[in-house]
Amino acid sequence: MQTEQKQIIAKAALDYIRPHLNKNMVIGVGTGSTANCFIDQLASAKHLFDGAVASSEATAERLQKYGIPVYDLNSVNHLPFYIDGADEATEHCHLIKGGGAALTREKIVAAVADKFICIADGSKLVKRLGTFPLPVEVIPMARSYVARELVKIGASPEYRQGVITDNGNIILDLWHLDITDPVNLEEKINQITGVVTNGLFACRPADLLMLSDDNQVKSYHAGQVC
Ligand code: 5RP
Repeated sequence: MQTEQKQIIAKAALDYIRPHLNKNMVIGVGTGSTANCFIDQLASAKHLFDGAVASSEATAERLQKYGIPVYDLNSVNHLPFYIDGADEATEHCHLIKGGGAALTREKIVAAVADKFICIADGSKLVKRLGTFPLPVEVIPMARSYVARELVKIGASPEYRQGVITDNGNIILDLWHLDITDPVNLEEKINQITGVVTNGLFACRPADLLMLSDDNQVKSYHAGQVC
C-alpha cells in the first residue's frame, strides 16, 4: 500500500512542476524509493526539460537508464526545483533524511534549489522528529570521537555497519533524541569536528511538503502555521 501512495505522490509532484518545465531547465532529483517513483514518472516528461542533478550515484544511474542527462552540480547555475523523499516530516516541513545514506549530497542539492519539494507517503508525517534514528555522516577517522561527543548531547549513536557513503564516509544513526528544536540541534551536531552533516533538514526545510494518504494529496508549506 505504501508503494501505491509513493507512486501517487510522485505523480502529483510531476503534475506540480510540469507547467514550469522548459528545454533549458535542469532539476534536482533525490534518493530513495519515493524518489525512484518520481524518476519513473519523470521519464515520461524527459522531452520537456534539459536534464537533472542527482543526489546520489544510484539516482544518477536510474536517471541515465531512462536517457535523462545527468549534470555535475558545478556545471549548473540554476536549479528551480529539487524533488526528494524523507524519513520523517512535520507539518512545518522540517525533515529527517539520510535513511539511504545520501544526506550530504541531498542537503547540497536542496541548498542550491529555489524550491525543495519533499514527497512522501502519509506514514512519514510526525508531530515531533526523532523516532526515526537521525543519520550523521562522519569522516571515518573521527568516528569514535564524534560518537563520544554525540553521547554528551544525549544521543545514542549506532555505527551503520557496512555502509560507506558516496563521499567515502561512514554513518552514525542517533537514537533516543528528543527533537524539540530541530534548527538548534542541526547546528549543534554540525559543529562537532569530523561531522560532515546530519540528516536534519530544518535550517533549510522543504518549501513544499506533499503527502499522500488514502489516495489523497495533502500539501504543507514551510513557514505556514498549520
Ligand atoms: C535517502 C533519503 C530518502 O529520501 C529517505 O530515506 C526516504 O526514503 P524512501 O523514499 O525510500 O522512504 O533521505 O538518503
